[in-house]
Amino acid sequence: MSINLSDIKEKGFLDIDIDKSINLTNEIEKLKKEKNAIILAHYYVEGEIQEIADFVGDSLALSQEAAKTNADIIVFAGVHFMAETAKTLSPEKKVLLPDLNAGCSLADSCPTQDFAKFVKEHPSHMVISYINTTAEIKALTDIVCTSSNAKEIVESIPNDQKIIFAPDKNLGNYVNGVTGREMLLWNGACHVHHEFSLERILELKKENPDAKIIAHPECQKPILLVSDFIGSTSALLKYTLNNNLNKFIVATESGILHQMKKESPSKIFIPAPGEDSTCACNDCNYMKLNSVKKIYNCLKYELPEIKLDEDLRKKSYVSIKRMLDISKKLGL
Ligand code: 13P
Ligand code: SF4
Repeated sequence: MSINLSDIKEKGFLDIDIDKSINLTNEIEKLKKEKNAIILAHYYVEGEIQEIADFVGDSLALSQEAAKTNADIIVFAGVHFMAETAKTLSPEKKVLLPDLNAGCSLADSCPTQDFAKFVKEHPSHMVISYINTTAEIKALTDIVCTSSNAKEIVESIPNDQKIIFAPDKNLGNYVNGVTGREMLLWNGACHVHHEFSLERILELKKENPDAKIIAHPECQKPILLVSDFIGSTSALLKYTLNNNLNKFIVATESGILHQMKKESPSKIFIPAPGEDSTCACNDCNYMKLNSVKKIYNCLKYELPEIKLDEDLRKKSYVSIKRMLDISKKLGL
Protein backbone atom coordinates (compact mmCIF):
# COMPACT_ATOMS: atom_id res chain seq x y z
CA MET A 1 0.00 0.00 0.00
CA SER A 2 1.44 3.39 -0.96
CA ILE A 3 0.91 6.19 1.51
CA ASN A 4 -0.45 9.51 0.48
CA LEU A 5 1.97 11.98 2.04
CA SER A 6 -0.24 14.90 1.09
CA ASP A 7 -2.67 13.60 3.77
CA ILE A 8 -0.15 14.67 6.38
CA LYS A 9 0.23 18.13 4.83
CA GLU A 10 -3.46 18.69 4.19
CA LYS A 11 -5.12 16.80 7.02
CA GLY A 12 -2.37 16.39 9.63
CA PHE A 13 -2.81 12.60 9.84
CA LEU A 14 -2.83 9.51 7.62
CA ASP A 15 -6.38 9.06 6.39
CA ILE A 16 -6.12 5.43 5.30
CA ASP A 17 -9.13 3.11 5.36
CA ILE A 18 -8.69 0.00 7.44
CA ASP A 19 -10.22 -3.38 6.64
CA LYS A 20 -13.19 -3.73 9.02
CA SER A 21 -12.38 -7.38 9.73
CA ILE A 22 -9.07 -6.42 11.36
CA ASN A 23 -8.90 -6.48 15.16
CA LEU A 24 -7.14 -3.17 15.70
CA THR A 25 -6.13 -3.86 19.29
CA ASN A 26 -4.40 -7.14 18.32
CA GLU A 27 -2.73 -5.54 15.29
CA ILE A 28 -1.45 -2.64 17.38
CA GLU A 29 -0.02 -5.14 19.90
CA LYS A 30 1.77 -7.01 17.08
CA LEU A 31 3.16 -3.80 15.56
CA LYS A 32 4.42 -2.62 18.96
CA LYS A 33 6.37 -5.88 19.42
CA GLU A 34 7.70 -5.97 15.84
CA LYS A 35 8.93 -2.38 15.99
CA ASN A 36 9.92 -2.16 19.67
CA ALA A 37 7.40 0.68 20.03
CA ILE A 38 5.43 1.97 23.00
CA ILE A 39 2.28 4.03 23.29
CA LEU A 40 2.33 6.80 25.91
CA ALA A 41 -1.09 8.26 26.70
CA HIS A 42 -2.26 11.22 28.74
CA TYR A 43 -5.24 10.79 31.09
CA TYR A 44 -7.29 13.09 28.85
CA VAL A 45 -7.48 10.80 25.79
CA GLU A 46 -10.44 8.45 25.26
CA GLY A 47 -10.66 5.44 27.60
CA GLU A 48 -10.22 2.92 24.77
CA ILE A 49 -6.85 4.53 23.94
CA GLN A 50 -5.78 4.48 27.60
CA GLU A 51 -6.53 0.73 27.52
CA ILE A 52 -4.11 0.01 24.64
CA ALA A 53 -1.36 2.29 25.99
CA ASP A 54 1.79 0.95 27.64
CA PHE A 55 1.86 3.88 30.03
CA VAL A 56 -0.87 6.33 31.04
CA GLY A 57 0.03 9.34 33.14
CA ASP A 58 0.10 13.07 33.73
CA SER A 59 2.48 15.45 31.94
CA LEU A 60 5.34 14.95 34.42
CA ALA A 61 5.14 11.15 34.49
CA LEU A 62 4.90 11.04 30.68
CA SER A 63 8.03 13.16 30.25
CA GLN A 64 9.88 10.98 32.81
CA GLU A 65 8.78 7.87 30.92
CA ALA A 66 9.82 9.34 27.54
CA ALA A 67 13.26 10.12 28.97
CA LYS A 68 13.90 6.60 30.22
CA THR A 69 12.20 4.22 27.76
CA ASN A 70 14.26 1.69 25.77
CA ALA A 71 11.73 1.64 22.94
CA ASP A 72 12.83 2.69 19.44
CA ILE A 73 9.49 4.31 18.66
CA ILE A 74 7.22 6.38 20.91
CA VAL A 75 3.64 6.91 19.78
CA PHE A 76 2.32 9.83 21.79
CA ALA A 77 -1.43 9.70 22.40
CA GLY A 78 -1.63 13.23 23.69
CA VAL A 79 -0.94 16.64 22.19
CA HIS A 80 1.89 18.25 20.23
CA PHE A 81 3.85 19.84 23.09
CA MET A 82 3.99 16.44 24.85
CA ALA A 83 5.37 14.65 21.77
CA GLU A 84 7.80 17.53 21.22
CA THR A 85 9.01 17.20 24.84
CA ALA A 86 9.50 13.45 24.30
CA LYS A 87 11.56 14.15 21.16
CA THR A 88 13.61 16.77 23.02
CA LEU A 89 14.44 14.25 25.74
CA SER A 90 14.98 11.27 23.42
CA PRO A 91 16.27 12.65 20.10
CA GLU A 92 17.53 9.25 18.93
CA LYS A 93 14.01 7.81 19.05
CA LYS A 94 11.28 8.13 16.47
CA VAL A 95 8.43 10.10 18.09
CA LEU A 96 5.05 9.87 16.39
CA LEU A 97 1.90 11.93 16.98
CA PRO A 98 -1.26 10.33 15.51
CA ASP A 99 -2.72 13.70 14.47
CA LEU A 100 -0.58 16.84 14.06
CA ASN A 101 -3.66 19.00 14.67
CA ALA A 102 -3.59 17.97 18.33
CA GLY A 103 -2.38 21.32 19.66
CA CYS A 104 -3.12 23.09 22.93
CA SER A 105 -4.97 26.38 23.50
CA LEU A 106 -2.72 27.14 26.46
CA ALA A 107 0.47 26.69 24.41
CA ASP A 108 -1.15 28.84 21.68
CA SER A 109 -1.78 31.61 24.21
CA CYS A 110 1.97 32.26 24.38
CA PRO A 111 3.34 33.35 20.96
CA THR A 112 7.15 33.26 20.79
CA GLN A 113 7.83 36.83 19.63
CA ASP A 114 5.53 38.45 22.21
CA PHE A 115 6.95 36.32 24.97
CA ALA A 116 10.56 37.00 23.94
CA LYS A 117 9.79 40.74 24.13
CA PHE A 118 8.17 40.33 27.56
CA VAL A 119 11.20 38.43 28.89
CA LYS A 120 13.54 41.08 27.48
CA GLU A 121 11.54 43.80 29.24
CA HIS A 122 12.16 42.07 32.60
CA PRO A 123 15.90 41.29 32.62
CA SER A 124 16.06 40.71 36.39
CA HIS A 125 13.41 37.95 36.27
CA MET A 126 14.07 34.30 35.73
CA VAL A 127 11.51 32.32 33.71
CA ILE A 128 9.51 29.33 34.86
CA SER A 129 7.23 27.89 32.17
CA TYR A 130 4.57 25.27 32.32
CA ILE A 131 5.33 22.25 30.12
CA ASN A 132 2.27 23.22 28.00
CA THR A 133 4.42 25.40 25.72
CA THR A 134 6.24 25.11 22.41
CA ALA A 135 9.95 24.22 22.18
CA GLU A 136 10.59 27.89 21.28
CA ILE A 137 9.10 29.05 24.62
CA LYS A 138 11.02 26.35 26.50
CA ALA A 139 14.19 27.68 24.88
CA LEU A 140 13.42 31.08 26.50
CA THR A 141 12.76 29.39 29.85
CA ASP A 142 15.05 28.67 32.80
CA ILE A 143 13.04 25.84 34.35
CA VAL A 144 9.98 23.99 33.04
CA CYS A 145 7.31 22.76 35.45
CA THR A 146 4.09 20.76 35.32
CA SER A 147 1.04 20.99 37.53
CA SER A 148 2.49 18.14 39.67
CA ASN A 149 5.64 20.00 40.60
CA ALA A 150 4.96 23.73 39.99
CA LYS A 151 4.84 24.57 43.71
CA GLU A 152 8.08 22.67 44.46
CA ILE A 153 9.92 24.10 41.44
CA VAL A 154 8.98 27.64 42.51
CA GLU A 155 9.96 26.91 46.12
CA SER A 156 13.38 25.69 44.92
CA ILE A 157 14.17 29.27 43.82
CA PRO A 158 15.50 31.76 46.44
CA ASN A 159 12.75 34.03 47.78
CA ASP A 160 14.38 37.23 46.58
CA GLN A 161 14.65 36.04 42.96
CA LYS A 162 12.00 37.62 40.74
CA ILE A 163 10.13 35.16 38.53
CA ILE A 164 8.09 35.30 35.34
CA PHE A 165 5.57 32.43 35.27
CA ALA A 166 4.07 31.43 31.91
CA PRO A 167 1.77 30.78 30.21
CA ASP A 168 -1.10 29.78 32.53
CA LYS A 169 -2.33 32.68 34.67
CA ASN A 170 -4.67 30.40 36.64
CA LEU A 171 -1.91 27.96 37.62
CA GLY A 172 0.40 30.94 38.24
CA ASN A 173 -2.18 32.58 40.55
CA TYR A 174 -2.66 29.32 42.39
CA VAL A 175 1.10 28.83 42.87
CA ASN A 176 1.46 32.47 44.01
CA GLY A 177 -1.23 31.74 46.62
CA VAL A 178 0.32 28.56 48.00
CA THR A 179 3.91 29.82 48.01
CA GLY A 180 3.30 33.46 49.00
CA ARG A 181 5.31 34.60 45.96
CA GLU A 182 4.37 37.42 43.63
CA MET A 183 5.44 35.99 40.31
CA LEU A 184 4.78 38.02 37.21
CA LEU A 185 2.16 36.11 35.24
CA TRP A 186 1.74 35.70 31.50
CA ASN A 187 -1.91 36.14 30.53
CA GLY A 188 -2.63 32.68 29.10
CA ALA A 189 -5.25 30.04 29.84
CA CYS A 190 -6.56 26.65 28.76
CA HIS A 191 -9.95 26.86 27.04
CA VAL A 192 -11.22 23.74 28.84
CA HIS A 193 -10.32 24.66 32.42
CA HIS A 194 -11.09 28.36 31.99
CA GLU A 195 -14.67 27.61 30.96
CA PHE A 196 -15.98 25.73 33.98
CA SER A 197 -19.03 27.44 35.43
CA LEU A 198 -18.96 28.28 39.15
CA GLU A 199 -22.72 28.74 39.19
CA ARG A 200 -23.44 25.36 37.63
CA ILE A 201 -20.86 23.60 39.81
CA LEU A 202 -22.54 25.06 42.92
CA GLU A 203 -25.95 23.92 41.61
CA LEU A 204 -24.51 20.41 41.23
CA LYS A 205 -23.12 20.58 44.75
CA LYS A 206 -26.58 21.58 46.06
CA GLU A 207 -28.08 18.54 44.34
CA ASN A 208 -25.22 16.35 45.65
CA PRO A 209 -24.31 17.74 49.09
CA ASP A 210 -22.26 14.61 49.86
CA ALA A 211 -19.98 15.16 46.83
CA LYS A 212 -16.49 16.66 47.13
CA ILE A 213 -15.46 19.20 44.49
CA ILE A 214 -11.99 18.42 43.10
CA ALA A 215 -10.26 20.70 40.61
CA HIS A 216 -7.17 21.06 38.45
CA PRO A 217 -5.16 24.27 39.19
CA GLU A 218 -5.69 25.41 35.56
CA CYS A 219 -9.27 26.31 36.67
CA GLN A 220 -10.14 29.90 37.56
CA LYS A 221 -9.74 31.10 41.17
CA PRO A 222 -13.49 31.13 42.11
CA ILE A 223 -13.67 27.41 41.21
CA LEU A 224 -10.52 26.66 43.20
CA LEU A 225 -11.93 28.57 46.20
CA VAL A 226 -14.97 26.25 46.42
CA SER A 227 -12.93 23.09 45.82
CA ASP A 228 -12.22 20.53 48.53
CA PHE A 229 -9.05 19.38 46.79
CA ILE A 230 -6.82 20.90 44.09
CA GLY A 231 -4.20 18.98 42.17
CA SER A 232 -2.72 17.73 38.90
CA THR A 233 -4.53 14.90 37.10
CA SER A 234 -2.47 12.27 38.93
CA ALA A 235 -3.01 14.00 42.29
CA LEU A 236 -6.78 14.13 41.67
CA LEU A 237 -6.77 10.45 40.75
CA LYS A 238 -4.83 9.54 43.90
CA TYR A 239 -7.18 11.63 46.05
CA THR A 240 -10.27 9.78 44.76
CA LEU A 241 -8.55 6.43 45.33
CA ASN A 242 -6.96 6.96 48.73
CA ASN A 243 -9.93 7.96 50.88
CA ASN A 244 -13.32 6.61 51.78
CA LEU A 245 -15.29 9.44 50.19
CA ASN A 246 -17.80 8.24 47.68
CA LYS A 247 -18.82 11.05 45.32
CA PHE A 248 -16.80 13.65 43.42
CA ILE A 249 -17.57 16.61 41.16
CA VAL A 250 -14.52 16.61 38.88
CA ALA A 251 -13.36 19.96 37.44
CA THR A 252 -10.84 18.90 34.84
CA GLU A 253 -10.93 17.34 31.38
CA SER A 254 -13.40 14.43 31.16
CA GLY A 255 -10.83 11.78 30.07
CA ILE A 256 -9.56 11.41 33.64
CA LEU A 257 -12.92 9.90 34.64
CA HIS A 258 -11.93 6.70 32.82
CA GLN A 259 -9.09 5.93 35.27
CA MET A 260 -11.08 7.20 38.26
CA LYS A 261 -13.96 4.83 37.48
CA LYS A 262 -11.55 2.01 36.68
CA GLU A 263 -9.65 2.37 39.94
CA SER A 264 -12.71 3.06 42.14
CA PRO A 265 -15.62 1.30 40.38
CA SER A 266 -18.04 1.72 43.29
CA LYS A 267 -17.56 5.51 43.55
CA ILE A 268 -19.53 8.18 41.70
CA PHE A 269 -17.80 10.76 39.49
CA ILE A 270 -19.71 13.75 38.13
CA PRO A 271 -17.98 15.82 35.42
CA ALA A 272 -18.07 19.53 36.26
CA PRO A 273 -20.10 21.53 33.70
CA GLY A 274 -18.95 24.46 31.59
CA GLU A 275 -20.81 27.75 31.02
CA ASP A 276 -22.67 26.48 27.98
CA SER A 277 -25.12 23.67 28.80
CA THR A 278 -25.19 22.52 25.16
CA CYS A 279 -21.47 21.89 24.70
CA ALA A 280 -19.12 19.17 25.91
CA CYS A 281 -16.99 21.95 27.42
CA ASN A 282 -15.01 19.60 29.62
CA ASP A 283 -13.65 17.74 26.57
CA CYS A 284 -10.33 18.93 25.17
CA ASN A 285 -10.99 18.87 21.42
CA TYR A 286 -7.23 18.49 20.83
CA MET A 287 -6.82 15.43 23.07
CA LYS A 288 -9.94 13.96 21.52
CA LEU A 289 -8.36 14.06 18.02
CA ASN A 290 -6.54 10.87 19.00
CA SER A 291 -8.28 7.66 17.93
CA VAL A 292 -7.40 3.95 17.86
CA LYS A 293 -7.58 4.03 14.05
CA LYS A 294 -5.14 6.96 13.80
CA ILE A 295 -2.80 5.24 16.27
CA TYR A 296 -2.87 2.07 14.15
CA ASN A 297 -2.04 3.94 10.92
CA CYS A 298 0.59 6.04 12.67
CA LEU A 299 2.34 2.99 14.10
CA LYS A 300 2.07 0.99 10.89
CA TYR A 301 3.42 3.69 8.55
CA GLU A 302 5.50 5.53 11.18
CA LEU A 303 3.90 8.88 10.37
CA PRO A 304 3.33 11.71 11.27
CA GLU A 305 6.72 12.07 12.88
CA ILE A 306 7.83 14.90 15.19
CA LYS A 307 11.03 16.55 13.93
CA LEU A 308 12.91 19.24 15.79
CA ASP A 309 15.69 21.55 14.72
CA GLU A 310 18.75 20.33 16.68
CA ASP A 311 19.77 23.81 17.84
CA LEU A 312 16.27 24.48 19.19
CA ARG A 313 16.14 21.01 20.76
CA LYS A 314 19.38 21.61 22.65
CA LYS A 315 18.16 24.99 23.91
CA SER A 316 14.79 23.68 25.09
CA TYR A 317 16.38 20.55 26.58
CA VAL A 318 18.14 22.58 29.28
CA SER A 319 14.94 23.86 30.94
CA ILE A 320 13.20 20.46 30.78
CA LYS A 321 16.24 18.64 32.17
CA ARG A 322 16.42 21.09 35.10
CA MET A 323 12.79 20.23 35.91
CA LEU A 324 13.51 16.48 35.76
CA ASP A 325 16.60 16.85 37.96
CA ILE A 326 14.80 18.91 40.61
CA SER A 327 11.83 16.50 40.55
CA LYS A 328 14.17 13.51 40.97
CA LYS A 329 15.95 15.16 43.88
CA LEU A 330 12.59 15.84 45.56
CA GLY A 331 11.30 12.34 44.83
CA LEU A 332 8.48 13.62 42.61
P1 13P B 1 -1.26 17.50 34.09
O1 13P B 1 -0.99 16.39 33.15
O2 13P B 1 0.01 18.06 34.66
O3 13P B 1 -2.24 17.17 35.16
O4 13P B 1 -1.86 18.72 33.23
C1 13P B 1 -3.04 18.62 32.56
C2 13P B 1 -3.03 19.21 31.21
O5 13P B 1 -3.60 20.21 30.94
C3 13P B 1 -2.33 18.51 30.17
O6 13P B 1 -2.53 19.19 29.02
FE1 SF4 C 1 -4.00 22.17 26.38
FE2 SF4 C 1 -6.12 22.50 27.93
FE3 SF4 C 1 -6.12 20.55 26.15
FE4 SF4 C 1 -4.51 20.41 28.32
S1 SF4 C 1 -6.75 20.39 28.31
S2 SF4 C 1 -3.98 19.95 26.19
S3 SF4 C 1 -4.01 22.56 28.59
S4 SF4 C 1 -6.06 22.74 25.70
